[in-house]
Amino acid sequence: MEYVQMVKESVEFLKSKVNGKPRIAIVLGSGLSIIKESLDVETKIGYSEIPHFPVSTAPGHAGEMIFGRWNGVDVVLMNGRFHFYEGYSMKEVTMAVRVFQLMGIKYLFLTNAAGGLNHAFEPGHPMIITDHINFMGDNPLIGKNVEEWGVRFPDMSDAYNSNLASIAEDVAKELPVEYYKGVYVAVAGPSFETPAELKMFRYLGADAVGMSTVPEVIVANHAGIKVLAISAITDRAIPEGLAPLTAEEVLRVAEKTGIQIASIFEGVIKEIGDELK
Ligand code: HPA
Repeated sequence: MEYVQMVKESVEFLKSKVNGKPRIAIVLGSGLSIIKESLDVETKIGYSEIPHFPVSTAPGHAGEMIFGRWNGVDVVLMNGRFHFYEGYSMKEVTMAVRVFQLMGIKYLFLTNAAGGLNHAFEPGHPMIITDHINFMGDNPLIGKNVEEWGVRFPDMSDAYNSNLASIAEDVAKELPVEYYKGVYVAVAGPSFETPAELKMFRYLGADAVGMSTVPEVIVANHAGIKVLAISAITDRAIPEGLAPLTAEEVLRVAEKTGIQIASIFEGVIKEIGDELK
């Protein structure tokens, strides 16, 4: 079946199950499920129930779409995302963003766990993403362009909506949260980086490295959806004296950083929520 048709059938299914009209979608990264506790849950739908939807296999990723309200605003939250390293195509990795587009989502809040390349970064703190470098070796928009979804050559000059990022920063400043801002470089994974690779990424101007987010951001920009993305810095990705890293350590640190990210999102929703009620 054609991708466009598959997306439309997923959307029809979800619309038949849900009462609210969410304008904000939130994607939870590895170990960041704690963010879902902020929601007043209305409906939970397992990915396996949604026609044509992939099923996530990564550790720390549940695999359900949760519809509910946050501060009185209808939101949809993806508890578990799809990664390129799981063997999914870029179209599968970003299918949820297309579904969101057709459901009328205007804002996409993304989270991820990332290694801190910037020497000033301490693990356990959020980084508001200001820009990215796509080092995944692929792009979800490769192939025939679907004109009804967006233009062939989408602009990426403000991929991480600067207005949303500045609202997030204003919110973070008022919280007892030490936060960073910076550039995220995405790799395919699943292997973590070698010291030589980390050194290169630092030279390239990246502040954090991870294995997700960039495909979703590209599709969201194509779709005209505004993006706010925040990384949980989970480890020091510093080439000199690089300590061995495990997924368990990433999840452990992400879990404690998730609470801070949730409070930033909450403040942003308060700020932009009135126009969405
Ligand atoms: N590298 C890549 N992905 C990651 C890292 C890292 O150091 N930490 C969390 N996700």
